[in-house]
Amino acid sequence: MSPTPLSFPPKFLWGAATASYQIEGAWNEGGKGESIWDRFSHTPGKVRDGDVGDIACDHYHRFAEDIKLMRDLGIKAYRFSVSWPRVIPNGSGPVNWVGLDFYDRLVDSLLVAGIEPWITLYHWDLPQVLQEKGGWTNRDVLGYFADYAACLTRRLGDRVNNWMTINEPWVISFLGNRTGEHAPGIKDEKTALQVAHNLMVGHGMAVQAIRADQPKANVGIVFSLSPAEPETQTPADIEAAQRSWEKDSAWFLDPILKAYYPPDAWKAYGNLVPDVKPGDFALTSQKLDFVGVNYYFRTLVNAKGTVEKIPGSEYTEMGWEVNAPSLRGLLNRMHKEYKLPPVYITENGAAFNDTVSSDGQVHDSRRLNYVKDHLTQVREAINDGVDVRGYFVWSLMDNFEWAHGFSKRFGITHVDYKTLKRTVKDSGKWYCQVAKHNAIVNEEQTASVR
Ligand code: FCB
Repeated sequence: MSPTPLSFPPKFLWGAATASYQIEGAWNEGGKGESIWDRFSHTPGKVRDGDVGDIACDHYHRFAEDIKLMRDLGIKAYRFSVSWPRVIPNGSGPVNWVGLDFYDRLVDSLLVAGIEPWITLYHWDLPQVLQEKGGWTNRDVLGYFADYAACLTRRLGDRVNNWMTINEPWVISFLGNRTGEHAPGIKDEKTALQVAHNLMVGHGMAVQAIRADQPKANVGIVFSLSPAEPETQTPADIEAAQRSWEKDSAWFLDPILKAYYPPDAWKAYGNLVPDVKPGDFALTSQKLDFVGVNYYFRTLVNAKGTVEKIPGSEYTEMGWEVNAPSLRGLLNRMHKEYKLPPVYITENGAAFNDTVSSDGQVHDSRRLNYVKDHLTQVREAINDGVDVRGYFVWSLMDNFEWAHGFSKRFGITHVDYKTLKRTVKDSGKWYCQVAKHNAIVNEEQTASVR
């Protein structure tokens, strides 16, 4: 029997996502080394209001409470990242067993709660020691990354099957090394493109390392994709959108899924293109079990550039346009242009100015509608023939939003940063019902959750 339009295929995975630096805190506890985000946030002027992730959501100490919360919400899969300097403080060399034990306990507790762990190896917190050796521009770091991957699979691979190598190579290279808005704060386009390339090669080396240890592992990479769309159907706008798509999205998708860079974008980047060593594309294009898509907003383009404010559109607190149909368009485009493995939506969500109401609840109807509309488009894309297997909402809880500090709340759970109290928002209660029914339910169906 075919599912009704609002219900999802059986076994569709309902998850929530976080990242180590954004939630863990305990920045210098248990033998953890310094990361580039510790250094960056401790540098005055880098993060809004001088916020730092030293404590963040204190998840390092409160993980049991957070797992209980997920269990109560009926979340089936938890996507989290491992902090590389917590496990290998100097990036290479001796393992910090206290740090590795933390993730071991986390995994065991998730399994006891019936939640599947999905691990991201790199969600931006490079060991600072490695940055001092050139960071991702130094090819030695790629080998260290593969060793770190092997260290994790050796310890956790008997219980963890799902691995994501790199989260969002576009953001790491372009925001970290071109605009300097993120750690390590470098502003050099050539460096950014070399970092982008090396990240993709490092990804391939990590895939090999994981498979060598765990042949049946489910391995993928996570892309941030903001599909470029033409403002009008004039040839000039269409051409501009295509150029933008190639320089930002295809620049990452092609080396991984086609084993080369998009030729026109390669030409357009001129002498900024990276140094590519023989054998690199064989590494970047390692066979994958899935691709992770992080989608938040589209990019509207005309012949003059990107359209910043689109009349009539709704915007989130991040200044990102809300546009759910573009997610369906993106998934279809990927399906058409690539030999695509199964897809997981590894992040999707929105920041709004939430407050705790006098009834003690957080009535975040805009977030609820955002998630609902995007899920509807995911369901449509599945109907169109795209093999989407799961959805991870960003984020399980409010957290440290990088250069924006704590000013942007993305959680389906509210965090009071003074008391660290967690309060499930209306969107969280609703999401719980969605997971339970494997279908997009109405807002009213939230009553049964605390
Ligand atoms: C993505 C990041 C994630 C979070 C969301 C809002 O780019 O992967 O950590 O910050 O944006």
